[in-house]
Amino acid sequence: MDNLRVSFIGTGSMGSAVLKGLLAAGHPPAQISATTKSSLSASALRQLGVSAMALEESADANSLLAGDADLIVLGVKPYQIVETLAELKGEIANNAVVISMAAGVSLETMAASLPDNPNLVRSMPNTPALVGKGVTGISAGVNCSREAMLAAGELFASVGAVIEIPESQINALSAISGSGPAWVYYFIEQWEAIAIDKGFTKEQAEMMVRGTFDGALDLLANGDSEPSELRQNVTSPGGTTAKIIETFDQAKLKSIFEAGLLAAVKRAEEIASSTQ
Ligand SMILES: NC(=O)c1ccc[n+]([C@@H]2O[C@H](COP(=O)([O-])OP(=O)(O)OC[C@H]3O[C@@H](n4cnc5c(N)ncnc54)[C@H](OP(=O)(O)O)[C@@H]3O)[C@@H](O)[C@H]2O)c1
Repeated sequence: MDNLRVSFIGTGSMGSAVLKGLLAAGHPPAQISATTKSSLSASALRQLGVSAMALEESADANSLLAGDADLIVLGVKPYQIVETLAELKGEIANNAVVISMAAGVSLETMAASLPDNPNLVRSMPNTPALVGKGVTGISAGVNCSREAMLAAGELFASVGAVIEIPESQINALSAISGSGPAWVYYFIEQWEAIAIDKGFTKEQAEMMVRGTFDGALDLLANGDSEPSELRQNVTSPGGTTAKIIETFDQAKLKSIFEAGLLAAVKRAEEIASSTQ
């Protein structure tokens, strides 16, 4: 991997998270390049020791920097993927690995834009990649080589865990782990709000809820028990915790989660048909 030249095309929050992860994993800065729209963003990236070019400085920055890359990571917005691939068509190596991070843009759409490039990969990272604890799903295009997938896997392993899945599952993965940080923050928001409603200060509510989340996850990570066992350990039959779980079950919490997931998958399918 160290000898591969990696070019980030569109390097905002997600692109720069992966770029920084790659640097932290020891990838040589001289092997990394990045493009942005604005000069300001490009200059911030140059501070990291990588070469960066803004479209504001050079209109053909994308094809110039991707032109000699082995791995090309697309971090532009989903609606920009097709136009960006059109810029790269014929300018990048045929065996380059082209990895899109865009939500809802299918491998079929990518292949239609880059018919001469077999090594197409679709990925779905999540924001904890910013702190090296991301979860990224990757799916191979129909003609993608094993080596290309291994390189894509290694790239995202620099910012967390990687799961290889068929593209048919990527919208569900996107709802579960891609959007997952929003699920977690939403629970925390609601949980802290009810603590404040019960008269605790904001600081106390944060300490109770965030501290419990953190401690419970550590307990889970550091033992062999399943979440259901750890839950039962704090749930005496007929006790107060049992009442909480009973209330959640009566409200059909699982069905609510499932409805959220299905709505997200439906939206991803709508986005996919609008970017074809
Ligand atoms: N953020 C997430 O949680 C998340 C999760 C999974 C997947 N994704 C996917 O990751 C992609 C990027 O999302 P993001 O949140 O990182 O967006 P972002 O922060 O807005 O980054 C977009 C980047 O693209 C640059 N850019 C804009 N137009 C360009 C062009 N024509 N050519 C090259 N670069 C261009 C921008 O430059 P400037 O810096 O100058 O504006 C910026 O660096 C999206 O496709 C999204 O679906 C995001």
